[in-house]
Amino acid sequence: MTVAAIGYLRIEAQDNAAWMEFGTQVLGLMEAPREDSAGARFLRMDAHPFRFMVESGTSDRLVATGLEYRNQGDWRAVCDALAGAGHSFSAGSAEEAERRCVSGYISLQDPSGNTIELYYGRKLDYVPFNSPVGVQRFVTGDEYTGDTGFGHAVLPAAQTEDTIAFYTDLIGLAVCDDLYPPIPDSRVIFMHADNPRQHSLALYNQPHPAGVVHMMVEVDTLDEVGLALERVKQAGLPLLATLGRHVNDNMCSFYVLAPGGIAVEYGYDGLLVDWDNYTPTVSTEGDLWGHEYSFPGVND
Ligand SMILES: [Fe+2]
Repeated sequence: MTVAAIGYLRIEAQDNAAWMEFGTQVLGLMEAPREDSAGARFLRMDAHPFRFMVESGTSDRLVATGLEYRNQGDWRAVCDALAGAGHSFSAGSAEEAERRCVSGYISLQDPSGNTIELYYGRKLDYVPFNSPVGVQRFVTGDEYTGDTGFGHAVLPAAQTEDTIAFYTDLIGLAVCDDLYPPIPDSRVIFMHADNPRQHSLALYNQPHPAGVVHMMVEVDTLDEVGLALERVKQAGLPLLATLGRHVNDNMCSFYVLAPGGIAVEYGYDGLLVDWDNYTPTVSTEGDLWGHEYSFPGVND
């Protein structure tokens, strides 16, 4: 396994000002002022120059998921393995790498059509995190765990088996839980990177118009989750799932719909795993309690 962490997301929003307002005033992320030729705006949560790039566009969707490798050697080995297996990819230009604050990257699509960017050498600027709404800290790792990434993302994967094989055989993730929730024809495959976060990327076995089933950010305490829930209510945003606790990563969280329609999970208490002593699980329940789902227009 070689993926170190899930590093960043690129998000397209029809109204990127509304997304930035949501990111800063509801989630509590910090805007990172950066010049961008395409007018993108950036959100940070830790020492990384940004974790979310919010681009203006004609749709509301996930554009790309950035996966980090520990060094150029690991990254090059994955590039060689992809080429050897007949996967085409495009190498990012120096200018595009600079835009992502990475030393080098390639871009390609997984077998279900999700765009991923594989990179090494993130350029950190160490600007102190200062949340506009007082969030103390987002959980992205510490001196004991190393970088555990921004959280996690669940990607649609209609070509399920091919996509699992792609991520586990070539990209360098490993399956930690195979969930068959009590919903007909529904399956979620959870994968971890080479850090203790229980899952960094998951695959859902059906298509999704937003290109992402949900993305997740993690804070330190239940109080931070409760305060975020109050900000969601104040902003009048639809709650997709009430407070609850997941089985596999133990995350205590709620789900909110961001402007434009990307679901964001906001939680705390995520499990950290010692992978040397872990047996991948097959689950038949997603939640210990709570997480009552309500999709606008469906359950109204
Ligand atoms: Fe999640």
